[in-house]
Amino acid sequence: MDLKSYLSSRRTIPSAHLGAPGPDAQQCKNILTLASRTPDHGKLVPWRFIIIEGSARQALGDLCVARQKTLAQNDARTLTDAEIQKTATCFTKAPVIVVLVSTAAAHPKIPLWEQELAAGAVGMNLLHASQALGFSAQWLSAWMAYDREICARLGLSEHERIAGFFHIGTPLEGPVERPRPDISEITTNWSAS
Ligand SMILES: Cc1cc2nc3c(=O)[nH]c(=O)nc-3n(C[C@H](O)[C@H](O)[C@H](O)COP(=O)(O)O)c2cc1C
Repeated sequence: MDLKSYLSSRRTIPSAHLGAPGPDAQQCKNILTLASRTPDHGKLVPWRFIIIEGSARQALGDLCVARQKTLAQNDARTLTDAEIQKTATCFTKAPVIVVLVSTAAAHPKIPLWEQELAAGAVGMNLLHASQALGFSAQWLSAWMAYDREICARLGLSEHERIAGFFHIGTPLEGPVERPRPDISEITTNWSAS
């Protein structure tokens, strides 16, 4: 498929529809190498990756359930079985999860925002690179991406943030199109007059 056809038809396949096989170690390295070929003001490389696969996916789900229970208890709220189940299984659908971490930090020249945008560009490239190697990926966040306790358990420093959990696997079902923005509604022409 040429690049234009790919970009005009690409679509995320939900993690629930991603199965084995996932990328092996070498393919994972290729995906992350391609993803990191991204614009980066100041060449700071303000991102890093954490790979979660095999039983580590369930372990992360279990960790999130424990945290969710603590948070609910603090709010004097009871979790439903469905809520617990959703969290427990959220990392076990696709075979490989890549956590994209923004490592943006104060810099004398490069604004934090630009460093975060660079990590975002890596995220989009991760989707393209997964596709290029014959897989598919979904970019997800959810509450656990913002929970400092979970971030700490994943080894993040205080200034680091999760840009997304990328669930990578082989599509079990084809994509279904979704509405796209009307470009004329979000585009204006500017002139000095
Ligand atoms: C930063 C970020 C976080 C996201 N987090 C979630 C999420 O937690 N849950 C969800 O259903 N979709 C989430 N999405 C949206 C999906 O990744 C995906 O974009 C959407 O399902 C359709 O995407 P498509 O235009 O690639 O088909 C997130 C997207 C971005 C960019």
